Amino acid sequence: MSMVFANGRSASTYSDCLKEPLYEYNFPNRCDGRDLLAAVRDDSVPCVFFDPQYRGILDKLAYGNEGVSRGIKRSVLPQMDEATIKQFIAEIARVLIPTGHLFLWVDKFHLCEGVSGWIPESLGIVDMIVWDKQKMGMGYRTRRQCEYLLVIQKKPLRAKGIWAVHDIPDIWVERPSGCHAHAKPVRLQARLIEAVTNPGDVVVDPAAGSYSVWKAAQLVGRKFLGGDIVYGIHKEGVRT
Ligand SMILES: C[S@@+](CC[C@H](N)C(=O)[O-])C[C@H]1O[C@@H](n2cnc3c(N)ncnc32)[C@H](O)[C@@H]1O
Repeated sequence: MSMVFANGRSASTYSDCLKEPLYEYNFPNRCDGRDLLAAVRDDSVPCVFFDPQYRGILDKLAYGNEGVSRGIKRSVLPQMDEATIKQFIAEIARVLIPTGHLFLWVDKFHLCEGVSGWIPESLGIVDMIVWDKQKMGMGYRTRRQCEYLLVIQKKPLRAKGIWAVHDIPDIWVERPSGCHAHAKPVRLQARLIEAVTNPGDVVVDPAAGSYSVWKAAQLVGRKFLGGDIVYGIHKEGVRT
């Protein structure tokens, strides 16, 4: 572990977080993300992205158009109920280093209803970013053009010496890339990774979809550890 003082970050570098080599770095591990997180040591990861496969719109609101025409591709992906999302976040809280960050993608329903019931005592919400996709989606009333990213930190909550990039606007314009129905913006995620990690640090995404976080980590010279229950390669010895 080495200390980095340049660029406004005074945190150590965390380049290995696995208890044993059950999963591979810089690899599309096909697995349940909760199993992958279980293989990670306590307090060992500075940055996690989590983009749940929300059921909220399907279960609670009729404005989403999920399961109909263009929504079909999305609705066949394994959905996560609230209990599953809470399990993921509890594990993420365990593996984050103190002052480490969780970037949590939320849909409009959860943005409005709140996610505080998912957030353990050890974490706090410190910021939020709106991603403007410059592309109109579905909706019975207004049509969706944005997605929302909560910036969550493991206590102690502080930016000084931890958050190193200071020109990220809280409305981010980037067109989606990739063919996954939920692909997230690679350039935004790369800037955020730069903000809260050192070169060589591990960035985790336990439900990686199109692996946009891996692409982002590669862009800025960080290691990636992640997987998806549908997308990826099944490594022998790891249960799905
Ligand atoms: C919203 S998408 C993620 C999209 C991703 N952020 C991207 O940029 O492409 C959610 C993903 O979670 C996956 N998933 C659902 N349940 C899972 C589980 N238990 N473990 C791992 N992945 C899971 C789905 O297969 C889906 O690809």
